Amino acid sequence: MKIAVVGGGSTYTPELIDGFARLRDELPLTEIALVDPDAHRLELVAGMARRMLAHAGHPGRILATSSVEEGVAGAQAVLLQLRVGGQTARNVDETLPLECGCVGQETTGAGGLAKALRTVPVVLDIAEKVREHAPGAWIVDFTNPVGIVTRALLEAGHRAIGLCNVAIGFQRRFAAKLGVAPERISLGHVGLNHLTWERSVHLDGEDVLPALLESHGQEIADDIGLPVDLIRRLGVVPSYYLRYFYEHDLVVEEQKAKPSRAAEVAAMEDELLKLYADPSVTAKPELLGKRGGAFYSEAAVALIASLAGDRGDTQVVNLRNGGTLPFLADDAVIEVPARITAAGAVPLAVPAVEPLYAGLIAHVTAYETLALEAALHGGEERVADALLAHPLVGQASLAGDLARRLIDANRRHLPWA
Ligand code: G6P
Ligand code: MN
Repeated sequence: MKIAVVGGGSTYTPELIDGFARLRDELPLTEIALVDPDAHRLELVAGMARRMLAHAGHPGRILATSSVEEGVAGAQAVLLQLRVGGQTARNVDETLPLECGCVGQETTGAGGLAKALRTVPVVLDIAEKVREHAPGAWIVDFTNPVGIVTRALLEAGHRAIGLCNVAIGFQRRFAAKLGVAPERISLGHVGLNHLTWERSVHLDGEDVLPALLESHGQEIADDIGLPVDLIRRLGVVPSYYLRYFYEHDLVVEEQKAKPSRAAEVAAMEDELLKLYADPSVTAKPELLGKRGGAFYSEAAVALIASLAGDRGDTQVVNLRNGGTLPFLADDAVIEVPARITAAGAVPLAVPAVEPLYAGLIAHVTAYETLALEAALHGGEERVADALLAHPLVGQASLAGDLARRLIDANRRHLPWA
């Protein structure tokens, strides 16, 4: 089986290769095509990937190319993990909103909108090439903002599923706290990408979340950066992205006082690329563990293995709502547990969602609808409308001001500006 990774020159790629090597029985790959426009990075990362496979005794071959057409040809699955404009553009997403008193984050709030504007056209262009050169291939999108990008792909008629590591991260961490194998844990995970809550944690069919909040509440609260009293009172575990909502003003103050995540990651990437250039390095560097994508490779392997092998197991993915959350339109994209077969992902039924969460989910879904309109059709007014609809912006003069500044700062990545 051939798989293509677009954005294969990413410093994350060895994370993925490590997963492919460890889980080769689950997903026997014969070829991994790494596709990236940055020839220098691609060479370093492909070299590292080849050493890792050889070291693990994996027979797969690595193809490195800057041509999407060549890379995806004959692939059964295409993984998208690209970042238009790299850490430089991300730095703008994280710092420009701060100047207006809003959270600076690459997927949440105004920064997330800027990322959507840059990313949607590029991803749609790649997906058309997949349609032509790898008809029938699954597109697995890890490219942020995953909810909006997945919706863009589905609306253009592609076979796409959105993926994030937040849910698998909770599953793995809860399992470790309980001292059980992760497969025994299933999550009552609900919401939108980067806007989710764990409302139950089933261990062999029994909900152990209340007990987990009793015994490990403080640790869990520290992991997500929210007060333990809050999560115990609510009886749910929000993802750490909810902190940008529940503690917005505090986060803004913190962010103003320290370097951006983009700057931190850029420094880590320099270090990682040095390691990838060193022929004696044959295993995934520890430093990669400081990146946000922990367990990403395991989630990707599991998803592709179930799609290819028609396994019918349950995994948390991003897919069309189709009535699962009755307060959202059918074509909204949500992040919930789904049954994965060769025919794709089908959401499992979700217990009624409390107003405390349903309100925010509906609000952000409206924003995502308008964000996609802006990304597809451009124009300052559409950008301002999306910001006006976002719960973290929402004021007219602020939305107008941010729209102008974001467009200005991203002009070279926006086909219509
Ligand atoms: C988490 C998110 C990803 C995001 C990543 C950023 O893993 O689920 O969607 O890309 O964090 O990690 P970074 O190390 O670049 O800050
Ligand atoms: Mn994610």
